Amino acid sequence: MDTAETIAEVRAQVTDWRKTGESVGFVPTMGNLHAGHLSLVELAREQADRVVVSIFVNPLQFGPGEDFDRYPRTLEEDRRKLIDTGADLLFLPSVYEMYPADGGAATFVHVPGLSEVLCGQSRPGHFRGVATVVCKLLNIVQPTCVVLGEKDFQQLVLLQKMVRDLDLPVEIIPAPTRREANGLALSSRNGYLTAEQREDAAQLQRCLEEAGHALELRNRTVTEAETRAVDQLRQAGFRVDYVSVRRRNDLALPCDEDRELIVLAAAWMDRTRLIDNRKIDRQPPARE
Ligand code: PAF
Repeated sequence: MDTAETIAEVRAQVTDWRKTGESVGFVPTMGNLHAGHLSLVELAREQADRVVVSIFVNPLQFGPGEDFDRYPRTLEEDRRKLIDTGADLLFLPSVYEMYPADGGAATFVHVPGLSEVLCGQSRPGHFRGVATVVCKLLNIVQPTCVVLGEKDFQQLVLLQKMVRDLDLPVEIIPAPTRREANGLALSSRNGYLTAEQREDAAQLQRCLEEAGHALELRNRTVTEAETRAVDQLRQAGFRVDYVSVRRRNDLALPCDEDRELIVLAAAWMDRTRLIDNRKIDRQPPARE
């Protein structure tokens, strides 16, 4: 696996591959790679002839007081895992390479609406940072396809919209969430939790599972399911940011006829903010 630190180097390599007709899959990451990330790389491998992975802890998507400085940076381990998983090229830019204007972007990509709800409400500016960096990375790498995890479901939907709205010539391939044995979704931020907190944190997935199941059977209304999940999470020791049932394709508030839904949640366990979701395929409404 080669490593490129500059935009020019990545472009030169990808241009060479493209010239010989090879397709290119891309997996953007912030490093500290776990089995969830590696499953994205594997999926990219299946979909494309060549795989590029980026590791870039993007300052633009962290707000003041968030964990940018303590975000785990484990480059040598990450490199070994990527070699073992069969990535062809690691793109490892500096902040200056990505944002030459004093380390910040001068031009931003903003996806209105989706950026301000759910996680966007408690993390103002976060999704503008995500959309800006992913748009830049897609322009740099120019991949055939990009693989994005469904754990960050709001990010996925927002980037799908950005790609459609800006006519970016790339296919987005969503990848299922990978979980620990107890159900906790894999996340780099799980590393902040103690062993005991990791067990408690698994309650997040259990509450969403229960809410999803009740909604599929139409045993509870959306509001009842959300309220019950919030209560259960509080009892499990979480400080709840939100639990919200949304329409799956655009994260709008659902109406009774909508069948493809998703329940999304964000909650704090001590100083660690965790997110998760569960898809819901609801039965049609009962007719009188
Ligand atoms: O999901 C992430 O790790 C990041 O938000 C991404 C997509 C790599 C952009 O920095």
